Amino acid sequence: VFHKHPKELHLASDGAFGKWDTQQLQRGYQVYKEVCSACHSLRHVAFRNLQQLGYSEAEVKAEAASWVVPGIDPNTGETTTRPGEPTDYFPSPYPNNIAAAAANNNAVPPDLSLITKARHEGPAYVYSLLTGFQDQPAELLEEFPASKTPSGLHYNPYFPNLNLAMAPPLTSNGQVSYSDGTEATVDQMSQDVAAFLTWTAEPSMVKRKQTGWPVLGFLLFATVLAYLAKQQVWANKK
Ligand code: HEM
Repeated sequence: VFHKHPKELHLASDGAFGKWDTQQLQRGYQVYKEVCSACHSLRHVAFRNLQQLGYSEAEVKAEAASWVVPGIDPNTGETTTRPGEPTDYFPSPYPNNIAAAAANNNAVPPDLSLITKARHEGPAYVYSLLTGFQDQPAELLEEFPASKTPSGLHYNPYFPNLNLAMAPPLTSNGQVSYSDGTEATVDQMSQDVAAFLTWTAEPSMVKRKQTGWPVLGFLLFATVLAYLAKQQVWANKK
């Protein structure tokens, strides 16, 4: 009863005629880069994929170079870091899960590439989770005193077990500054990053939906043609 169903979220990519809102995806990318990437990787997304959000090849190259990725020193063979290239994937900020857990109260921040597919009603869930941090309701504590949020965890009614190890990452309006004039409220930033993570989970979604219509049209045409052919073939056999 205390676990809540996600709030409604409407995105341009919803539905059979859905299209990417590339402005929103760019804003969501900015939120991911400036906030979420401190803890979460996107290991299935390469910098070159950003071209689909409307960035030019040169912009993607510059963008990639603004990231630090793991590398190997060609002389010593030791692991080092280097600036990203378009073919690299969004790196994890931690060398491994042990370091990640150590930095986050023993919970490993999951890779976010596919999170909107991995969770029920993923985009709405991400949006709700980000805007859902709150104090534990008094009724919950009365009914189940043992459910008191342990120190270091944070109460969130959209998270299935109610207490999660992520502190609210988006807390103040204007936490990122958008260049397209959109006001960066917590609600807006949350919607934008949810839209961005919808794209990372299936960059080909809009293409898939758009392919469906000509396919249906062709099947309809082929059906009519088959019917007419059958009429013709059997015309004198009545
Ligand atoms: C978990 C999103 C920023 C640390 C999660 C989950 C999502 C998410 C969707 C998964 C919840 C689930 O398993 O259902 C985001 C987004 C961020 C962001 C969109 C940026 C706006 C951060 C930051 C940190 C962080 C900055 C670290 C300071 C964690 C940790 C977990 C987690 C430790 C695991 C929680 C647990 O299993 O108890 N995050 N996150 N996140 N995140 Fe974030």
